[in-house]
Amino acid sequence: MNWKRKDLLGLQELSAEEIKLILDTAEPMKDIILRPIKKVPVLRGKTIVTMFYEPSTRTRTSFELAGKYLSADTVNLAMSTSSVQKGESMKDTALTIEAMGADVLIMRHEATGAPHFMAKTVSSRVINAGDGMHEHPTQALLDMFTIIQKKGSIEGLTVAILGDILHSRVARSNIWGLTKMGAKVNVVGPRTLLPEQFKKLGVETFNKVEEALKDADVINVLRLQKERQQKGLLPSMREYSRLYCLTEERLKLAKPDALVLHPGPMNRGIEIASDVADGLQAAIEEQVTNGVAVRMAILYLLMGGNTDEVAA
Ligand code: CP
Repeated sequence: MNWKRKDLLGLQELSAEEIKLILDTAEPMKDIILRPIKKVPVLRGKTIVTMFYEPSTRTRTSFELAGKYLSADTVNLAMSTSSVQKGESMKDTALTIEAMGADVLIMRHEATGAPHFMAKTVSSRVINAGDGMHEHPTQALLDMFTIIQKKGSIEGLTVAILGDILHSRVARSNIWGLTKMGAKVNVVGPRTLLPEQFKKLGVETFNKVEEALKDADVINVLRLQKERQQKGLLPSMREYSRLYCLTEERLKLAKPDALVLHPGPMNRGIEIASDVADGLQAAIEEQVTNGVAVRMAILYLLMGGNTDEVAA
């Protein structure tokens, strides 16, 4: 199949076939980034602009590198020194960047739906790099790509998503993606950070880590989002860590070869113990590498490429 959408806004709206197309396209892209000379000319003459209204290390840099490896021109709009500081609206900012010839706008924003609004405003292609607590589709795609690389496939696996579910766009995108690809998803966190409505997303919910991790093939540990916490949701960091931190002892409850993922940045000692994060079962740095491959695949498909061309 070929990619038909103008934008990539979330995994809720994608079919399993569309997700598979992106994941299959990421495979030859990973081969490219493992070469000594990581450059192919497929997006020569195209322009990609990142617009991040929230901080980022991994997502913004990997999109920029992904564009460069495909020979596109990439520009990062630094929000702290842009005219956003003079009060320019998101719409006017996007129209201004589009008027300079941007083919793709990659956007992160604290408001749910901001990239969706942007996609209707501009004719450039729009990629959601994280909108509020809603979706982070490229993170979930790189998580799924990492699972496939390590486990062979997603279908039939049990994936436990652990931690601050309430505030996590990574959790929502992973749930939509993993269930479509045939995984059983266990979601676990404190009652205050795991709303009842998650049950409607086709997952099993737990408040006890020990129950959720039993026989898990993959554990995806979420960052405790200190910047989004409201008062009263957590007794204390120490208590959260005591009950929900992925320790070596808790990891033993999962399958012996269980894969440990974390989207980063990590709060070591709070949601994940350092020895687990640095241990043999963790693939956290490989997730970062895979993030570049997956974002290359997305840029390539959105700009009209087909998989056979890259594989050749
Ligand atoms: N995982 C993730 O989105 O990381 P950054 O905030 O560093 O982009």
